[in-house]
Amino acid sequence: MATPDFNMDSHWLPFTPNRHFRKEPRIFVAADGMNFTTHDGRTVVDGISSLWCVGAGHRRSSINEAIKKQLDTLDYATAFQASNDQAFKAAEMIAAMAPGDLNKVLFCNSGSEAADTSLKVALAYHRARGEGHRNVFIGRERGYHGVGFGGMSVGGIPANRKVYGTALLPRVDHMRFIHDPANAYIHNREPESAEDMLLELEQRILPLHDPSNVAAIIVEPVAGSAGWYLPPKGYLKRLREICDKHGILLIFDEVITGFGRMGTNFGADFYGVVPDMLNFAKAVTNGVFPLGGVICRDKLYDAMMKTDAPEHVIEFFHGYTYSGHPVACAAAVATLNLYEKDGLFQRAGEMGKVLGDAFHGTFKGLPNVIGIRSLGLAAAVELAPIAGTPGKRAYDIFVDCFNKGALVRPAGDILVIAPPFIVEREHIDRLVNTLADSIKAHA
Ligand SMILES: Cc1ncc(COP(=O)(O)O)c(C=O)c1O
Repeated sequence: MATPDFNMDSHWLPFTPNRHFRKEPRIFVAADGMNFTTHDGRTVVDGISSLWCVGAGHRRSSINEAIKKQLDTLDYATAFQASNDQAFKAAEMIAAMAPGDLNKVLFCNSGSEAADTSLKVALAYHRARGEGHRNVFIGRERGYHGVGFGGMSVGGIPANRKVYGTALLPRVDHMRFIHDPANAYIHNREPESAEDMLLELEQRILPLHDPSNVAAIIVEPVAGSAGWYLPPKGYLKRLREICDKHGILLIFDEVITGFGRMGTNFGADFYGVVPDMLNFAKAVTNGVFPLGGVICRDKLYDAMMKTDAPEHVIEFFHGYTYSGHPVACAAAVATLNLYEKDGLFQRAGEMGKVLGDAFHGTFKGLPNVIGIRSLGLAAAVELAPIAGTPGKRAYDIFVDCFNKGALVRPAGDILVIAPPFIVEREHIDRLVNTLADSIKAHA
């Protein structure tokens, strides 16, 4: 591996073991379609849509042209007390794609900001209705809602929370995780479970806090960062019913499942459940420009607008300098048009079945494989950890795959593949075979 010809001293990499990275850097300098080029001239297949972002593949000309045109027309404009045309266009498209009366889009720049925004809307909404005492949030073990203090607090990934102590939000509880060990192998279907995973919510968590104090429950429809864990059949519908029964808002964090990953517009469509807020980011711009947001049901907006304050007074004191950035929104409009024109969500659903078949056909029975889960255009293979060093087996396999030209994603001792929706069978074969060879080599 050639040493890069630039200085690597100043860049502190996110969610990366920096010490090891410095010894064995993985640096992209170009990309096209399904492939990257590295600093030392190798080709690597993008098996993870670059963190679940690049649904349409890299360097799509219609998106790039839209960005260039926007830069030459309106590069940036203040987001407060004024706006820009692209923000309205993008919001209209996103609201039209969202199910039910999820019609009002609050823009931000990332999934983390979307998480914190949605929690703040929940508190502000309840207060606007005279229920300011509703301030308990409920997340789920192993949930990931980004790295802001709000998202981290409702999130349930221990390593992300470990060192923050009382800086995490108080009055947060977590539901049990959705995995049933009886469902280690899930092949292109929703798991079914004999266990009632929401019993604990009904029998312990809600009575403990009193449901009348609970502002919102936030979940990822599919637990993405934890390693593609799927909810059992009926789970999300029942969660919706429980929330309705107690006046609790339901937030779906669709930063991964939104915009095609499940073969539908949103996970909400796949599961037939409409949340009160839907958080998005990543694939909305094909990853090319930071953009996130929260789609709110009409009733949230309406409650916040129903105020006795004079009209010059801001109704919701929240926003980011780059909320609805014109270039990001132009990128979103072009991306969503491209997804539609090329039927890429449908394609994601179809290729998801191919990916799932390849996973189950290839990995079952390989050394250390203890689970395989596939649904939508993503699949996970779970490995037994090396005793005493959890995560090492998957990390070593990830590095090895990279060196063999396949970008896969380690999550604990799970390896995930979630390719762009344009993926072809030959890419899937290459990714899966490279991973299989590496699993065998690390037995
Ligand atoms: C479900 C979910 N929520 C929030 C986030 C955080 O998004 P960001 O990294 O854009 O802040 C992620 C990132 O992977 C995510 O998967």
